[in-house]
Amino acid sequence: MRTYYCGELRTKHIGETVTLCGWVDRRRDHGGVIFIDLRDTGGKDPIQHMGIVQIVSDPQRTPGSYEQAEALRNEYVVQVTGRVTQRPEESRNPRLPTGEIEIYADRIELLNPVHKQLPFQVGTTDTESVREDLRLKYRYLDLRRLRMTHNLQLRHQVVKAIRRYLEDEQGFIEVETPILTRSTPEGARDFLVPSRVNPGEWFALPQSPQLFKQLLMVAACDRYYQIARCFRDEDLRADRQPEFTQLDMEMSFMSQEDILQLNEDLVCHIFKQVKGIVLPRPFPRLTYAEAMAKYGSDKPDTRFGLELVDVSDLVKDSGFKVFSGAIASGGIVKVLPIPDGNDTISNVRIKPGGDLFKEASEAGAKGLAYLRVRDDGEIDTIGAIKDNLTEAQKQEILSRAGATSGHLLLFGAGAADMVNKTLDRLRQVIGRELGLIDSEKINLLWVTDFPMFEWNADEKRLEALHHPFTAPNPSDLNDLKTARAQAYDLVLNGFEIGGGSLRIYQREIQEQVFETIGLSPEEAQDKFGFLLEAFEYGTPPHGGIAYGLDRLVMLLAGEESIRDVIAFPKTQQARCLLTDAPSRVDEKQLKELHVASTYKPKS
Ligand code: AMO
Repeated sequence: MRTYYCGELRTKHIGETVTLCGWVDRRRDHGGVIFIDLRDTGGKDPIQHMGIVQIVSDPQRTPGSYEQAEALRNEYVVQVTGRVTQRPEESRNPRLPTGEIEIYADRIELLNPVHKQLPFQVGTTDTESVREDLRLKYRYLDLRRLRMTHNLQLRHQVVKAIRRYLEDEQGFIEVETPILTRSTPEGARDFLVPSRVNPGEWFALPQSPQLFKQLLMVAACDRYYQIARCFRDEDLRADRQPEFTQLDMEMSFMSQEDILQLNEDLVCHIFKQVKGIVLPRPFPRLTYAEAMAKYGSDKPDTRFGLELVDVSDLVKDSGFKVFSGAIASGGIVKVLPIPDGNDTISNVRIKPGGDLFKEASEAGAKGLAYLRVRDDGEIDTIGAIKDNLTEAQKQEILSRAGATSGHLLLFGAGAADMVNKTLDRLRQVIGRELGLIDSEKINLLWVTDFPMFEWNADEKRLEALHHPFTAPNPSDLNDLKTARAQAYDLVLNGFEIGGGSLRIYQREIQEQVFETIGLSPEEAQDKFGFLLEAFEYGTPPHGGIAYGLDRLVMLLAGEESIRDVIAFPKTQQARCLLTDAPSRVDEKQLKELHVASTYKPKS
């Protein structure tokens, strides 16, 4: 039906008669001459070719198309045959790859009109900001918009770069793993699927292919990867979807260092191929302990400073009970020093009712003590901290924090988790607000040496920080509970884009880890007997990683939500507005599945 894609045409095609297909992006009537921007997507290099070309029709030069051209409206689907012509000097458009030429249309065939009013503007010149629920309901129109077309193509380019590198340069093979699988604890809630043929039993959708990829290593697969769909029934955020895609990888006979190097190569390859950016190597590394100490986060945004400083030892004996009491009960006191914060951040914002106070209290802080250093160097504050810290203590804190005139110091005091969470939040909000973040920067960071376990206060037990298949550091085997894991996360500008580890491959160690997280030998056997057994048949040392593909593409596309890089995402309420899923089903279907709903709709 066509001889070219719209965006392919250049001056070298002048004089040719071409046939194009696409959508009317815009139609302008200039005193009898009709100009149509015809839009399509596709071609050999879709990112280079914008997919727009100008069609011209007038009663004198192109009488065969004029009547039809007059009747066209935005988003009509047409086929155009015409001659490629040089544009007059004054109407050339250097911003458009096809801007040197235009097509004089001999014939326009209307393939399909638009019958209803468009719910929003679709064309490339459109700058309208459209409500997200409308965009999701009419996703097929939203995806026609340049920004979204670009995002889908970028996503495809990323996957293509990944496949080329892993398959052609590193000998990985892609293996598909089951979607109907067994429920295993991986942190989030499972999506369950009732079995019709096995009444009363359930499949779970995979939270990740973790166990299968390990079993593939037992199966001597050596290097596996998969662009894998994962399902997690958890609370949604801008960077979380109930179904999302991982680039999942697993390798045998590789040290942690080998794995990190290969992954740096991979990430550099993606950035080079997709964005033309050469990333500096090696990627910086921080241990988990260092990241928490400096930033209060295991996924710090290192594009800006505002590093936290621990002052516990300086205030542990002070008369300020908020500080000394926090330390006496096993907590810490840390400070977020903000250069120029004295002028830019008012007391109103730090005190109850203020926005920064609210941030802190949402992270669990009860208050937000502060010190200001006035321009003349005088220390200024209010409340109990004023009278209960000595001048010498205040000076010591300033000197530890590197604070000089104009600084504002915000304190966090209490349990380490809460203090870190509070100051991490404040650091991010203030970093953004003070314009300290250079949006052009690409800061990749490995975070290593995570603890194996963290305390789950609700369930009163240790749980695996990554997952229970992560190998402990061999030098920490004497005390598994406090052991460091051979685990690593890759962080990009404050987002965790990937995480992985070396795995346990010996039955005894796996059993010890299960025991540490409170699984009895019977439960371990019931849930993971197949894995424990596999370890007894000659399992190679192995390890791997999984990237959040959606998050990686979101960051490469400069978007703020992974919904903008997923063709058909769910809303924050986990609904698909386009198909209106989830939906009720027939009683008959439930019966067949041996399932009854206990849900009673509110009348
Ligand atoms: P993890 O649970 O850290 O590791 O997941 C790997 C990466 O997947 C992304 N991610 C998500 N993206 C969108 N929506 C979600 N709900 C979501 N949850 C996670 C993150 C994360 O870094 N099996 C292990 C990997 C391994 O050890 O090899 C795993 O799944 O970017």
